[in-house]
Amino acid sequence: MVILGVETSCDETAAAVVRDGRILLSNVIASQVDVHARYGGVVPEIASRKHIEAIAPVIQQALRDAGVTLGEIEGVAVTRGPGLIGSLLVGLSAAKALSYARRLPLVGVNHLEGHVAAIFLTDSSPPAFPFIALVVSGGHTTIYRVEDFHRFVILGQTRDDAAGEAFDKAAKLMEIGYPGGVVIDRLAQTGDCSAVAFPRAMKDCLDFSFSGLKTSLLMRLRKKGTPFSTEELPDLAASYQEAIVDVLVEKTLRSALESSIPRIVLCGGVAANTRLRSRFREETARFAIDFFVPPPVLCTDNAGMIAVVGEHLFREGRRDGLNLNAVSRWPISR
Ligand code: KG4
Ligand code: ZN
Repeated sequence: MVILGVETSCDETAAAVVRDGRILLSNVIASQVDVHARYGGVVPEIASRKHIEAIAPVIQQALRDAGVTLGEIEGVAVTRGPGLIGSLLVGLSAAKALSYARRLPLVGVNHLEGHVAAIFLTDSSPPAFPFIALVVSGGHTTIYRVEDFHRFVILGQTRDDAAGEAFDKAAKLMEIGYPGGVVIDRLAQTGDCSAVAFPRAMKDCLDFSFSGLKTSLLMRLRKKGTPFSTEELPDLAASYQEAIVDVLVEKTLRSALESSIPRIVLCGGVAANTRLRSRFREETARFAIDFFVPPPVLCTDNAGMIAVVGEHLFREGRRDGLNLNAVSRWPISR
């Protein structure tokens, strides 16, 4: 099938065309980073308005890049949640309009299932089910045992902040810009990751907690009384990043070993992190675990991953009506 994917759950307006759930014919992403940067985070109302401006041109561009006409599209898959309601509604309304006008089947997709499915777009030999997936984004940090496209069992999850949130909040405290993960990733490359001892929480279970880590940085800043200097920042960024990377790698590896499933998929926006990718590569190799990670552009929000899940839902006979509504929360474990 040739599926048009539409994704507007946060601050990226995205559309993509995917053939047979595997081949990415186009992948258009209009980022709103510049708009939200001055506020240090996504402003939901502004995000919705920007989606309204971008959605039609982005879909048109995706069709053009793919070299297909609307007449060749066989189904529309759209992110239904979780995400910002106002943002989700823009993509959902555009997808419904296309479905109604062109009599195309429509299906609503879970954004987190999408992040995991991104791996099927990229790897020439995708992982066999079941596999262990670590979904690390701005809103989620969860380890799943993935049994098929829609059967996920939670093995561990964050009890407070998501890993992406921990990056973004730290960058705000360090006054180094937005989005935090990207800036810290860059700064850390010239820093010493053992320079500052940051805490690693919840060592004995598969759940995560990142709020103590953030507080530890805040305390350091308060004690100092002045903003961190340019000289201090690389070591701080590298050490802070290492504290996040350590627990993500360790707990995911433990999940794979304890479940005797030697396949790990890393996905979600934080999976774009250079250090996280390389530490996962090293550690999985040591334990003979197969490691899969999409290229960075398919780790952060995109519509290709939504089209992949859509393809499988359509194959199972799933169709949604024009009464489909957006949902801000939508857990995927069964
Ligand atoms: O998946 P995503 O694009 O949106 C959500 O579904 O949340 O993830 C966004 C998160 C942000 O917190 C951002 O700081 C983080 O992913 N991120 C990174 C990197 N690129 C994006 N974190 C660490 N290193 C990166 N290179
Ligand atoms: Zn996401």
